[in-house]
Amino acid sequence: MHLARGAATRVGVLGAGAMGAGIAQVAAANGHPVVVVDASSEALDRARTGLDHAMRRAVEKSRLDERSATAIRANVRFSAVSDSGSMEAFADCDLVIEAIKEQLDVKRDAFARLEAVVGAECVLATNTSSLPVAGIASACRRPERVLGVHFFNPAPVMPLVEIVPGLGTAADVTTQVRALVDSWQKTTVLASDTPGFIVNRVARPFYGEGLRIHDEGIADAPTIDWAMCELGGFRMGPFSLMDLIGNDVNFAVTSTVFHAFYYDRRYTPSITQQRLVEAGRLGRKTGLGFYDYREGAVQPKPSTDRALGQEIVDRILALLINEAVEAVLWRVASPADIDLAVTKGVNYPKGLLAWGKELGFERVLTRMTALQQEYGEDRYRPSALLRRLARQDPPKFYT
Ligand SMILES: NC(=O)c1ccc[n+]([C@@H]2O[C@H](COP(=O)([O-])OP(=O)(O)OC[C@H]3O[C@@H](n4cnc5c(N)ncnc54)[C@H](O)[C@@H]3O)[C@@H](O)[C@H]2O)c1
Repeated sequence: MHLARGAATRVGVLGAGAMGAGIAQVAAANGHPVVVVDASSEALDRARTGLDHAMRRAVEKSRLDERSATAIRANVRFSAVSDSGSMEAFADCDLVIEAIKEQLDVKRDAFARLEAVVGAECVLATNTSSLPVAGIASACRRPERVLGVHFFNPAPVMPLVEIVPGLGTAADVTTQVRALVDSWQKTTVLASDTPGFIVNRVARPFYGEGLRIHDEGIADAPTIDWAMCELGGFRMGPFSLMDLIGNDVNFAVTSTVFHAFYYDRRYTPSITQQRLVEAGRLGRKTGLGFYDYREGAVQPKPSTDRALGQEIVDRILALLINEAVEAVLWRVASPADIDLAVTKGVNYPKGLLAWGKELGFERVLTRMTALQQEYGEDRYRPSALLRRLARQDPPKFYT
């Protein structure tokens, strides 16, 4: 197996939805011949139209010249899964990236069918956000060729890609895929095959603690969003972001992580968010979420009490830093990759570990301990590594 750059490596993408279409565009823009396969002809039509539209816009905005846009467009072929379920179109691919429905049995079935048509050297990747890579890989006869390659939405824009080897993934497969994705001008990080990988785990308190502060009536959504942006330096506050992601999607990720960690209270989903989902208030896409996006709606004003705002930022930030430290403790990724992941994957203004170091881990520990004492909840337990870091000067991440 050798995954060369450009035309020599043929890339397959299974699933022509939001992620599959974006990943296909990225591979095609890097000179690979790409075949996109989907069970639905409507999805294929949408992806084809979407790519045409993206290329037209890129030319209009002078991000691409006409020739490059035409070349990218010509690199992508669309093909339907055959009536018998065969994925013949992938027969000569060197790498296939799967981006279909987030359901383990569906992905396992697809990987078994995929392996039946590809050559012995073809690498199979999954874009899963929350399913175990090892569980998907075990549907294959050769799990050593399977790994997670987790892009963020929209794939052509977001720089981060989490590379996730499963239990049986061959080291060479991980190295080669990472090098290839790096050559696509993406920032890759290596994550362990644990729930939420890096970003979907470490970022949970941003939403969860925001919701908790809201539910306790300490502050309302606009005030929490104002504090996190104005005083915390985040690009978006948790409530605007949940409305943008979709409350259904955000709630599903939190629930998956909560279940996968055996109901660890740190990841407890919010009943408030669940009710929004049940009421169909999914956010921007339905016109109503935490905020009202319908025409003529007047947005509520935040309280701009700086002392309250700082209290909110310090509390959410302490939980975020604690979670990042806990991810180091459990070897989810290297400290450098954890910081890269949050700055490149969710646009945080600083890496959480660098931020903790800057603030002083002792201060973060003091805040976590105070919250744990006040509430008596395991949710606020400080990481064992946070305690260690608070004692060290300078703090050492691996001891
Ligand atoms: N949307 C995101 O923000 C995001 C971000 C990162 C990762 N992901 C992951 O990427 C994957 C795809 O997500 P999406 O948002 O693009 O979904 P989507 O619903 O937009 O697209 C999924 C596509 O897969 C097709 N499909 C479903 N089952 C199939 C099968 N058995 N065979 C062939 N085609 C099939 C559907 O027709 C659809 O076109 C999921 O695993 C998701 O968790 C999503």
